[in-house]
Amino acid sequence: MNSGIPGAYDIVNPDPGALIESLRAFGYNLETAVADLIDNSIAAGTRNIHLDFTWKGAESTISIVDDGHGMSEERLVNAMRPGSSNPLDTRDPSDLGRFGLGLKTASFSQCRKLTVGSKAPGDAIAIRSWDLDYVNKCGEWRLRRENPDYGNKIFSSLETRKSGTIVLWENMDRLVGGADRNDPKRRDLFYEHVDAVKSHLAMVFHRFLETRNALQIFINNRPLEPWDPFMKNHPATQHLPEEPFSHVEQKIIVRPYVLPHRSKLDDKTFERAGGPGGWNVRQGFYIYRNNRLIVAGDWLALGFRKEAHTKLARILVDIPNSMDDDWKIDVRKSVARPPAHLRDDFKRIARLTIERATAVYRHRGKIVERQTAGDFVFPWNTNVRNGTYFYTINRKHPLVGAVLENSGDDKKKTEAMLRLIEETVPVPTIILNSTDNPDRLHRPFENRPSEELLAVMEEIWISMISTGMNAAEVGKRLTSMEPFCDYPEQVSEFLESMEGEL
Ligand SMILES: Nc1ncnc2c1ncn2[C@@H]1O[C@H](COP(=O)(O)OP(=O)(O)OP(=O)(O)O)[C@@H](O)[C@H]1O
Ligand SMILES: [Mg+2]
Repeated sequence: MNSGIPGAYDIVNPDPGALIESLRAFGYNLETAVADLIDNSIAAGTRNIHLDFTWKGAESTISIVDDGHGMSEERLVNAMRPGSSNPLDTRDPSDLGRFGLGLKTASFSQCRKLTVGSKAPGDAIAIRSWDLDYVNKCGEWRLRRENPDYGNKIFSSLETRKSGTIVLWENMDRLVGGADRNDPKRRDLFYEHVDAVKSHLAMVFHRFLETRNALQIFINNRPLEPWDPFMKNHPATQHLPEEPFSHVEQKIIVRPYVLPHRSKLDDKTFERAGGPGGWNVRQGFYIYRNNRLIVAGDWLALGFRKEAHTKLARILVDIPNSMDDDWKIDVRKSVARPPAHLRDDFKRIARLTIERATAVYRHRGKIVERQTAGDFVFPWNTNVRNGTYFYTINRKHPLVGAVLENSGDDKKKTEAMLRLIEETVPVPTIILNSTDNPDRLHRPFENRPSEELLAVMEEIWISMISTGMNAAEVGKRLTSMEPFCDYPEQVSEFLESMEGEL
């Protein structure tokens, strides 16, 4: 239908009101939206970024101030255009952008008013804003010109700088819409979001933050510490061989890591090493595009699942920004899929890393196989009857055997006690607690004074010696018994001290 107007086409400009709502729905959250702004600051050669989250109820604001190369007025106006550059253009190899959309889509996902002030060296300050309510009302994409007094004079701070850019978000309907500034719950929620942003940025930009003098990010004036997903400096981290892949002269590097067993880390380090969302979520491939982390733990639909026993596997992948199309990079820089010709190699590397990671997870050192171990090794037996599991105390264990043997008149009582313990093992509670918190399971004698371990070891030693076994055989058995096999040094020390006794 062309209303009778002659010609080969109709001009159909997008309806601002409708398009705004679509631009707001790219699937960002606060963390990914802020990260998109930081991408722009880094691409502008920034050294220092100040992020400020100001709680004022519904009038809360977020601002980001950088000292990058800034923009002239003309460049700023273009930067504010949705679709400010063509995604097909070749980008500088260090550029973190692609689509010419991030500034707008990230901001609109969080706020209804986006104001950007910028200053390029030698230029005056230029300030422009998108006020979505205004655009909606006038039905036109009218980009507002603001003066340096705008927004609590935050933009006038550019006057004393050589160059830099300030982005201000106001009217954040999604984060604080309608909130009363005196409502403590809403305020706490706001600051919880700030914490989530901190952890996300510490992860996504850790490489920039690790390189001294490269970049510093301050959040409400506090410097942000990087989070290294690979614990590269920990002695118990396994560095598996690096593999380079070339494709059309572009290089991709894959470096698998297996992180240390929980027993090698103190509680605080373990907690922090898990990363945002925790250990289980953070396993898999980590894809860096120009040093910026875009995928932080994912098995990339290669057929692996995020299981507790594979969680120590983390695989680093470095890709350049010239392969965005091959890797299906999206506007938010949160998705990447390996191109078809790399999938088999990635699967192979994942399988190998998972195997190693599982071995470390299952046991910190060697694993005692139940099938081949002697009768004396385990204090507990696992039994199945009519498909139901039950647990009994191993009567052939040297200590248990000795107690029963020597209990004389109390033998019946001792046997009754063992039966009582066996029948009342709190299996449901153990299952509940270990599913909720699989990493917090206590290992035998973990964090206990070594005298406790030695006292038990000594009693077992005496029991075995009293059956007429020689010291060498007793020593060998102790070394392979649970839980002493986990403490080889203490066993050797103990055996040496016992040699003197005999
Ligand atoms: N902090 C900044 N300092 C200097 N220039 C900036 C800054 N933020 C944005 N720009 C300019 O604005 C342009 C548009 O930014 P925008 O984030 O919308 O798109 P992009 O970064 O080019 O691509 P993408 O959509 O992938 O993020 C950038 O290409 C850059 O030239
Ligand atoms: Mg961008």
